[in-house]
Amino acid sequence: MEHEQCEFGMVGLGVMGSNFLMNVADSGFTAVGYDKDPKKAQALNDASGGKIDGVTTIDEFLSRLATPRKIMMLVPAGSIVDAVIDELMPHLEPGDILIDGGNSYFKDTDRRTEKLEKENLRYIGIGVSGGEEGARHGPSLMPGGSKEAYEIVRPMMEAAAAKVNGEPCVTYLGSKSAGHFVKMVHNGIEYGIMQLTAEVYDFMKRGMKLSNDDIQRLFAEWNEGELQSFLIEITANIFKQPDDKGDGLLVDKILDKAKQKGTGKWTSQVAMDLGIPIPTIDVSVTMRFLSALKEERVEACKDLDLGDLDVAEDRLNTEKELEHALYFAIAITYAQGLALLEAASEEFDYGLNLEDVARIWRGGCIIRATFLENIMQAYRNRPDLPNLILDESLAKIMKERHAATRKVVQLGVEQGIPVPAMASSLTYFDAYRSQRLPSNLTQAQRDYFGAHTYERTDEPGIFHTEWNQS
Ligand code: 6PG
Repeated sequence: MEHEQCEFGMVGLGVMGSNFLMNVADSGFTAVGYDKDPKKAQALNDASGGKIDGVTTIDEFLSRLATPRKIMMLVPAGSIVDAVIDELMPHLEPGDILIDGGNSYFKDTDRRTEKLEKENLRYIGIGVSGGEEGARHGPSLMPGGSKEAYEIVRPMMEAAAAKVNGEPCVTYLGSKSAGHFVKMVHNGIEYGIMQLTAEVYDFMKRGMKLSNDDIQRLFAEWNEGELQSFLIEITANIFKQPDDKGDGLLVDKILDKAKQKGTGKWTSQVAMDLGIPIPTIDVSVTMRFLSALKEERVEACKDLDLGDLDVAEDRLNTEKELEHALYFAIAITYAQGLALLEAASEEFDYGLNLEDVARIWRGGCIIRATFLENIMQAYRNRPDLPNLILDESLAKIMKERHAATRKVVQLGVEQGIPVPAMASSLTYFDAYRSQRLPSNLTQAQRDYFGAHTYERTDEPGIFHTEWNQS
């Protein structure tokens, strides 16, 4: 039977792949999916009510696509992406467009771009955020790579993306791996916000001794205010979910070991390589590792018992402070992530526009939040803003909220409740606004033991001293 030539093809018909394909097809684009697994190919046929064919051979898939072919891969990041590229490449023709929608490591995307471009093929690395639901009904899309190729697939991407005030949450971000880099930092910020939310939960539960109902009420209330965001909304919902296997809430039965797939760690590693401080994100990655040491923690809980560290009850009347502290610390997390993007754009020549980044994060993605409107405005007012917290209106909020954050950190420390992300946000703020840091002493020590030299405050040049000679 003769089939019409499709405008868009998907490799990888897991839930993300088939949901994204159905989303594109909903906007009127003709589409075909490919997966070696006949069950997945059939599932696409079924889920789309027979509208989209799932095929199981590469020849059939490619013959069903109009040229230049527009093919997206939604397969697990890593060697599978290379395997799919190797399978497709010999069959592709110059001008065909390959799009990687996975959470690929940005250096892999650069390598793959180069490899495809040598064969006159065009490559787009695109960050897709929003999970299965987002893929089906509107994700945030972060494309980078060939601009010319993006222009060709733009109508499909804009149709598939989430919309905020009618604007699609997608825009071309920059050359090479810009899209995957932005998605990686999105995930780093996601780690930071999740850790901060977890710390606030711990503080409410172990410190303030609040019930799950009260915790639910607070998160739900906060989601109606300046903290409105997807992550706060789902947190409020989590505190309503009963355990269908027993009494109480499901959250109380979940093992406290947080897993990770690596994007947060990559964010910290790259930030270290570029020399950009993102301590809130770093410590959030670290806390996932620490949470994984469950058996050791259980042992330490007995061996290192410190007895009663409770503080006077009236000091814990901190509902408003907690809301303010969380807002302060989340704002600082965004500031760190955006500072990293700024530096990476310079280093890797991406040409990022941070107002655009904030714009496309406003809908569809995991870190979507009302606060992103403030961020957009900040970069619109001053595109070369060195740090988000220097924006006038953000600086005002920081000045109003730092005291609440100090109080929460202090009470956490006094009670032995770990609040490392909250404390890191606060100390980042304090260090960033310190005209003078104690690094003069660090320099003196380096010069003392290693003749590493130092600069002076009162005259230019490089100096070394023979310390302690007298
Ligand atoms: C998204 C999410 C998505 C994924 C995370 C989970 O934007 O839709 O970030 O990419 O759920 O990568 O990351 P961890 O497994 O590392 O927590």
